[in-house]
Amino acid sequence: MLATEKQYVHWQQNQNSRSARWLSESNQLPPARIVLVDDKTTADQAYRLACEGTSLLWNGDFHNARQLLQALTRRIERTNKRSEQRKTSKAATAADNADDTTNQSLATAKQIPNLFHQQRQAQAQRSRILSRLLLELAPGYSSQLRRAPDMTAACTAAFGELDEPCLLSFRDLQGALGAAQWRAKGVPIKGLDLSIFPHYGVFAPTRHEYVQLLLDAPLPASCDVAFDIGSGTGLLAIILAQRGLKQVIATDLNPRAMACASDNFTRLGLSNVQLQQADLFPTAAPLANLIVCNPPWLPAKPSSPLEYAVYDANSAMLRGFLQGAKQHLAAQGEVWLILSDLAEHLQLRTRDELLGWFVAAGLAVKYRLDTRPKHGRSQDDTDPLFAARSSEVTSLWCLQPA
Ligand SMILES: C[S@@+](CC[C@H](N)C(=O)[O-])C[C@H]1O[C@@H](n2cnc3c(N)ncnc32)[C@H](O)[C@@H]1O
Repeated sequence: MLATEKQYVHWQQNQNSRSARWLSESNQLPPARIVLVDDKTTADQAYRLACEGTSLLWNGDFHNARQLLQALTRRIERTNKRSEQRKTSKAATAADNADDTTNQSLATAKQIPNLFHQQRQAQAQRSRILSRLLLELAPGYSSQLRRAPDMTAACTAAFGELDEPCLLSFRDLQGALGAAQWRAKGVPIKGLDLSIFPHYGVFAPTRHEYVQLLLDAPLPASCDVAFDIGSGTGLLAIILAQRGLKQVIATDLNPRAMACASDNFTRLGLSNVQLQQADLFPTAAPLANLIVCNPPWLPAKPSSPLEYAVYDANSAMLRGFLQGAKQHLAAQGEVWLILSDLAEHLQLRTRDELLGWFVAAGLAVKYRLDTRPKHGRSQDDTDPLFAARSSEVTSLWCLQPA
């Protein structure tokens, strides 16, 4: 799934002018400065060059490129840890200087949105540095590097057919190879006797506590038609079909999600689930008895297409979904909104704002089911956002026209 506008990268190699198609999943511009590196380049040299903005074209053993990427990651983490320690000690001093306990908790609470933005900046910087380690692939995504695996199937599945040489980051390549493994093995869904097969660039349901919410919620009186808005792998549409909804229409904006959901529906032999690539609601569809949506849960700008499942700038999708839902509902129809409150703990959205959007959309809360995430990050007390993550609750809000 390559960007429609082709971009090329040009560089000098052994006094020859070279060029290749530039592939970047995070939409980074073609590198301006490239040097050749190989097994003799030390991790410190590579780290210094990458931090200075120079891209490193790998010309050594394939597995050693993986080792170099790990060494770069360790160096970034060390630098980030030192800078976090400095910030934490500054913040602690500010809190200590506040003259009573209430002011101290206020001082700590004020730092939370800053911590979130600092963490995103650090992630963006980490991604820029790590993406500077590049690989050249021949047409059909083949590589002459020592110990290079066969990458054709994984890269074609991730980036589409390509019959010209390309340059891409080793990181994007690893993403494609990892995704191919998930796609082959599948992700077993706890509580359900099924596995979901995620494709590259599609939200993988590895944190699926919310599945139980969808299984526990009582179905509306009538179960003829349901929509799954922002279907991703198709997981929620599959659950609705298995729970007895007669017709399910799943939508997503991401073409990769379309292909992935279609693959999952076919594997399960579901003939009553249809797909539409759409911004929010399907067109030319009947009114729905049930509309389900698990939108991206953090109101912040996505920095790459891969982040569109998690970040929703200004909560535009969430608000658009709520605003449009009522006009697509049949009589007695219900909306099931699945939403984590992490944004509230990070002070990116308030509960009152969310409740206000329900009211403005003409929707009233019928009931709410809650669950607490059990994934690793919610238990990791070394994470700077631990306070917010450990308090996170994911809810299924059952809404009806007011
Ligand atoms: C958090 S993921 C949920 C995926 C899936 N429903 C699940 O629960 O595993 C959010 C999904 O919404 C999709 N999405 C984001 N904005 C959208 C929009 N305006 N219209 C349709 N889908 C959208 C993303 O591509 C992504 O697949």
